[in-house]
Amino acid sequence: MAKAPARVTPPAIRARKGGDPIVCLTAYTTPVAKLVDQHCDLLLVGDSLGMVVYGLPSTIGVSMEMMIAHGQAAMRGASRACVVVDMPFGSYEEGHEQAMRNAARIMVETGCQAVKLEGGETMAPTIRFLTERGVPVMAHIGLRPQAVNTFGGYKVQGRDDASRAQVLADARVVSDAGAFSVVIEKTAEDISREITGAIPIPTVGIGASMACDGQILVVDDILGMFTDFRPKFAKPYAELGAAAGEAIKAYSDDVRARRFPGPEHVFLAKKD
Ligand code: KIV
Repeated sequence: MAKAPARVTPPAIRARKGGDPIVCLTAYTTPVAKLVDQHCDLLLVGDSLGMVVYGLPSTIGVSMEMMIAHGQAAMRGASRACVVVDMPFGSYEEGHEQAMRNAARIMVETGCQAVKLEGGETMAPTIRFLTERGVPVMAHIGLRPQAVNTFGGYKVQGRDDASRAQVLADARVVSDAGAFSVVIEKTAEDISREITGAIPIPTVGIGASMACDGQILVVDDILGMFTDFRPKFAKPYAELGAAAGEAIKAYSDDVRARRFPGPEHVFLAKKD
């Protein structure tokens, strides 16, 4: 019997620093996780699911229960990629114990390999606490969507000296604290490049340029599921939203015109 390919681990991702680009995507459901698992090194069950799946205005309203349910669904579909589950807003900021309790709950109840949390200097002591206790952590700096209200919007980071210095300092401390990789979101190209050259862990960019060691996007964005809004950093590789709309219209036209169901779709039909 063929041996199943080994699961990509957080240390294996860490070891990819400066090597071949690390390919990462989000997935929130079993069928999509199966597809992502075939082609990606790392699968993120991102709290972007709040907007993508639940129609929330931001990631702020995402709960532990949502992350665990979707983490379990993604784990059922992914056997090879390193699966990372986001810690939702409010589940880790109070202190080390709260962060450990919730990170452990996510890992125990989903079986994922690591968690991701947002924050640099402020969260570095928590990252150290978790990593020293068996929880691999992917950090997330630059634009931090959970802090949208303090940023005053989804603004590009690294535009001025203060912001550049902050993102660079954040990158250094999360690396020193033991994070196995760091997501850099919506940050000026030159500072992303500088960070990637300055720290020993892989940088994974989303709107942070080719300079990063890897790339991540929201899977629904690359599939072109939304026609109303597309972030500048997301490249659609398909137009599934438009195709799905056409399919739903064709079905509804068929039902209204009594073209569906046909004889091949019914059971024990009476013959005339
Ligand atoms: O929640 C998310 O999907 C993310 C990204 C980095 C894609 O954090």
